[in-house]
Amino acid sequence: MTVFDTIRNRRSIYEFKSEPVPREAIARVLETAVWAPNHKLTEPWRFLVVTGKTKEYLAEIYCKIQRKKTKSDDTGILRKATEKGYAKIMSKPVVIGVVCKKDEDDFRAREDYAATCCAIHNISLAAWEEGIGMQWSTGGLIRDPDTLRLLNIDPQVEEIIGFLYTGYPSQVPAQKRVPASERTEWFI
Ligand SMILES: Cc1cc2nc3c(=O)[nH]c(=O)nc-3n(C[C@H](O)[C@H](O)[C@H](O)COP(=O)(O)O)c2cc1C
Repeated sequence: MTVFDTIRNRRSIYEFKSEPVPREAIARVLETAVWAPNHKLTEPWRFLVVTGKTKEYLAEIYCKIQRKKTKSDDTGILRKATEKGYAKIMSKPVVIGVVCKKDEDDFRAREDYAATCCAIHNISLAAWEEGIGMQWSTGGLIRDPDTLRLLNIDPQVEEIIGFLYTGYPSQVPAQKRVPASERTEWFI
């Protein structure tokens, strides 16, 4: 696949096969992250690969958030939210947390965030080329204090920029875009 093809064909993946993703494939894909453009070479990122028991704990935290969202104390509604929440996280074979260092300097923080987003896109493009799908998630789970405790993140020092739900795609959704030509102005 050319870079053009990979960029054009990559999709966010929401439904995964249960097949596990080999550790070597994940490690290979993560190596592409650190080659993202990065002003001042601050290398502000860390990568947390979550599976097994830790993923179960994460699923429990997600269930807690989902139960709270119902704003209900009806046991049936709460049970349904728990079951749905648990299934949602457990159906992702791997969860990769991408963490960025915080910085007191607003401009530096912004540049580090931008670099980490580039790193995430490197990861998702390299993964796609390996046949691995991902969905970048910025839902409440990445900021929940229980998540940060579980993954040993000090919120004074670091933040999670996204969870990448990762696995072999069982469905690839269609997407569309407005062509760049319609959003481009050429100055001569
Ligand atoms: C910063 C960022 C955060 C995202 N967060 C979520 C999310 O929380 N939930 C979700 O379903 N998709 C999330 N996405 C995925 C987008 O919804 C997805 O990229 C968009 O629908 C376009 O689809 P495509 O990636 O297949 O082109 C996020 C994407 C980005 C770049």
